[in-house]
Amino acid sequence: MRLGIDFGTTHTVAAVVDRGNYPVVSFDGVDAWPSLIAGNTAGKLRFGLDAAAVRHTAGWSVLRSVKRLLDDAGPDTEVCLAGHHYPLPELLSGFLAQLRSDLHRRSNAGLPKRERIEAAISVPANASSAQRFLTLDAFTRAGFDVVALLNEPSAAGFEYAHRYRSTITAKREYVLVYDLGGGTFDASLLKMTGTRNEVVTSQGIRHLGGDDFDEAILGLVLDGVGRGAVDDPTREALLEECAARKEAIGPNTRRFLADLSMVGQPTFSCGVDDVYAACAPLVQRTVDVLADVLRDPGRDSALAWSDVAGIYVVGGAGNFPLVSRMLRAAFGDKRVKRSPHPFAATAIGLAGFLDKEAGYTLSERLSRHLGVFREAQTGTDIVFDPILPKDTTLPAEGEQPLVITRTYRAAHNIGRFRFVECSQIVDGRPDGDVTPCAPVLFPFDPDLQGDRQLARRPVIRWDAGPDVEERYVITPGGAVEVSLTTRPDGFTRRFRLARGAA
Ligand SMILES: Nc1ncnc2c1ncn2[C@@H]1O[C@H](COP(=O)(O)OP(=O)(O)OP(=O)(O)O)[C@@H](O)[C@H]1O
Ligand SMILES: [Mg+2]
Repeated sequence: MRLGIDFGTTHTVAAVVDRGNYPVVSFDGVDAWPSLIAGNTAGKLRFGLDAAAVRHTAGWSVLRSVKRLLDDAGPDTEVCLAGHHYPLPELLSGFLAQLRSDLHRRSNAGLPKRERIEAAISVPANASSAQRFLTLDAFTRAGFDVVALLNEPSAAGFEYAHRYRSTITAKREYVLVYDLGGGTFDASLLKMTGTRNEVVTSQGIRHLGGDDFDEAILGLVLDGVGRGAVDDPTREALLEECAARKEAIGPNTRRFLADLSMVGQPTFSCGVDDVYAACAPLVQRTVDVLADVLRDPGRDSALAWSDVAGIYVVGGAGNFPLVSRMLRAAFGDKRVKRSPHPFAATAIGLAGFLDKEAGYTLSERLSRHLGVFREAQTGTDIVFDPILPKDTTLPAEGEQPLVITRTYRAAHNIGRFRFVECSQIVDGRPDGDVTPCAPVLFPFDPDLQGDRQLARRPVIRWDAGPDVEERYVITPGGAVEVSLTTRPDGFTRRFRLARGAA
């Protein structure tokens, strides 16, 4: 069976490929699976629905927004939960293995026992190479056959294409996807021609979503309560209350109420405009990104606003009335369209992409620049060397990966590579949203090839250095693998870019 699975910050949503339809899977009657991990002091873990069931039980601690940990994580990252340390990759694959089991046992997906699940999965457009590998590995370790990894807004673009193909005309073939979820914001400009979707450019804010509205609203409430007055579990309960009340706000709501009985106080009440005022700076940041995408549409410089069929709002936080209000104020009433299933648009789009009959194809681009800081001048100077520019066209799923090689003569005994992914390059330096990868050390000097203490060895200039080949393999999902080889002796090391300190 083929499924689109959107692993979200707050919810994980799955949709099935079913004869041209992509119904959302429900678990015990609910269309989403909570992205929660719970642990107790005895070292027991619960995931998803089971974690939600124990979240208020004494002795259990809950890890929310686990996805947010991924962009700062490497293969060795650990997470502390109820006094126990767990490797993050293990927690994640445990979480996804439970999802797989619940898809079989507690969902309406109609999966025969032991049937393999072919999955299309997604990551935020802005995700680092490390997050892409971690996510892919975790799904694979959990027993899914991952057949595609797409960027979330690109997937949502297929949901749009499936639903509103008729709005795309030869004159207006661009759609700007605005994806505001629980933890991330992405904007992607897509060009849609026939069944082909082409990503023109993407930008995003990695740590902005509905979770941040909850925090902003909690700030308002705590100002009323007196900030010092609450302990952690109470804060957690208040945050949940704020989230629930936020979700109940509709376009006609006038007042915002929050139940404060857990701190022995009367109901908190304020005008909904105060809530909007607390959240407006967050929404404004997303509006600024959209304006930026339209002003600087990557390589499609001929694009005009009149070529854009609309702004398509997806992601649960897109339901917040302030979002549509501010988008309409900035871009005009007619251009803003909200998905009828904002929380499920990505999963539905992923399923659409998997549907061979529908024949959709995607041309995706690298969402950030990749470059490397290198030692120069006997290690006393450092230069930044761009390798792959943002918006490089990626191979389509099923195609050969993109390979880039460069060769040069080594000038030092040890190569020290500090790879960086970033949203902009300004004056030849990484800028904007910058993700440093863990430094990579490579022995150019054959005598150092077995040395486990390379980090402690001094970098010295070396005139008799071998030729070095750097090979970059870029997958359709936008993850990058690097191999370094000395020539002619052929000593080689291959590694994936992992997150780490610069
Ligand atoms: N009616 C609503 N009004 C306001 N916010 C809402 C509403 N419904 C859901 N949300 C918010 O949407 C967010 C969850 O959205 P969604 O399920 O799309 O995110 P996600 O996919 O889990 O996260 P991400 O895509 O960032 O990883 C939560 O912050 C939730 O409070
Ligand atoms: Mg999402």
